[in-house]
Amino acid sequence: MGSGNFTLTGTLVLAVFTAVLGSLQYGYSLGVINAPQKVILGHYARSLGFHNLSTSLPKQPESSSMLTMYWALSVAMFPVGGILSSFLVGFVADFRGRIKGMLVLNILAMVASLLMSLAKMGSPHIMVISGRALMGFYCGLSSGLVPMYIGEIAPVKYRGALGTLHQLAIVTGILISQVLGLDSLLGNDNMWHVLLGLSGVFAVLQSFLLPMCPESPRYLYIKLGKKEEACKSLKRFKGKYDTSRDIAEMQAEKEEAMKEAQVSMWMLVRSQVYRQQLFVALMMHLSQQFSGINAIFYYSTDIFQTAGVAQPVYATIGVGVVNTVFTLVSVVLVDRAGRRTLMLVGLAGMCLCAVGMTVGLVYQNTYSWMNYLSMTAIFLFVCFFEIGPGPIPWFIVAELFSQSPRPAAIALAGCCNWTSNFIIGMFFPYVEVICGTYVFIIFVVLLFGFTLYTCFRVPETKGKTFEEIAMLFQHGRVVVASQHGVEAELEQLQGTTEA
Ligand code: GLC
Repeated sequence: MGSGNFTLTGTLVLAVFTAVLGSLQYGYSLGVINAPQKVILGHYARSLGFHNLSTSLPKQPESSSMLTMYWALSVAMFPVGGILSSFLVGFVADFRGRIKGMLVLNILAMVASLLMSLAKMGSPHIMVISGRALMGFYCGLSSGLVPMYIGEIAPVKYRGALGTLHQLAIVTGILISQVLGLDSLLGNDNMWHVLLGLSGVFAVLQSFLLPMCPESPRYLYIKLGKKEEACKSLKRFKGKYDTSRDIAEMQAEKEEAMKEAQVSMWMLVRSQVYRQQLFVALMMHLSQQFSGINAIFYYSTDIFQTAGVAQPVYATIGVGVVNTVFTLVSVVLVDRAGRRTLMLVGLAGMCLCAVGMTVGLVYQNTYSWMNYLSMTAIFLFVCFFEIGPGPIPWFIVAELFSQSPRPAAIALAGCCNWTSNFIIGMFFPYVEVICGTYVFIIFVVLLFGFTLYTCFRVPETKGKTFEEIAMLFQHGRVVVASQHGVEAELEQLQGTTEA
């Protein structure tokens, strides 16, 4: 939607709030499984008949390795569900539209929550594992649909800030789950099933609110050709105004879209035209996940213990708070400083922090003050992440692609994100055993590479319409000059096109 004269309407606020309830569920499900691990394992053991583990010595090794396997599955089935469903984002988004897509998905989330909240009544390991897989499946779809919908309804000027709200909701979800997961609240023997099932509440709330939200005007006009409905939707989002400028902008994109058939994922992978955009999109998601952020989130308690913290659970919650606060900072900065600058500052800052963490961990037994260095480095690592690499990859994919390839691009980027998330979650503990206190050097190297890539290959998309962004990638090259340079180059390109 073009910038025009923009006032923040109640409908836009409602639509964005409603959409990000899906992201809140995603964050909640990401964070919820850490704290109650011991309690849940106790229930698995009882239900599997291992409750007398200590007295039946011959059974012990076998039983405990089985428990480890069930636990690994409880954690890992979530990203596996996400990997599988991320392929379907394009299909769900285009089938009946973004709103109906999000609405139907909630059934998955509710069934998943029900399975987990009733886990004590059946075999808890089966119920939790299937609930987590289904919830992952839901989150894989919603983490594509939410940024897509917000990207399409947001006015250009605020597209970054509104897009960042997806991440803000994710981190808020993580924080809520960390706090509720405390032993004194729901992370205990009596209440753990309620803790796991609680994410269904967000699904119920979202199902009530979605019917009040207008469908994406871009979907209505570009995909379905319904001009009247698109105008109505635009007016609901922006108040009474002249829609002709927005319609003209969409018309240009529609004409482009009509030149080619709907782009499938396979076509997108093979296409020369979109190669540059796709590469940038995938690299942004790889840099988000291989920055090592989830090594901190999944294993922070362990890492804090190694760094000598007495109450690691509270330090983990501290990370959640810092995480949320700095995402808010990004909401404010992203439309001023720009995506590229914030990605660069974030990645370079994280790289330095990973050096700090390594030095702190390696010398912690030599100098006692080194613990402070590792702690500070961990907190700053999270701050830098949330300034850029956390929120930006989620919404920049919707910005980089025009209407036809957008759903396929979001699906591919989502799949890349979920797969790398799974790889880190699964293999970090093994790599940590091999590398010991030097483990973060791997992330230093990766982050350095991602910083260089961003510097040389990622263009600025701030304040540009989808058409202008597409132009940045025309002629098979990417324009990554300074902001002023980009504008100059854009004018030049527009001149060439018009001539
Ligand atoms: C991003 C990542 C997610 C991570 C979270 C931490 O949303 O996609 O994997 O856990 O940030 O804030």
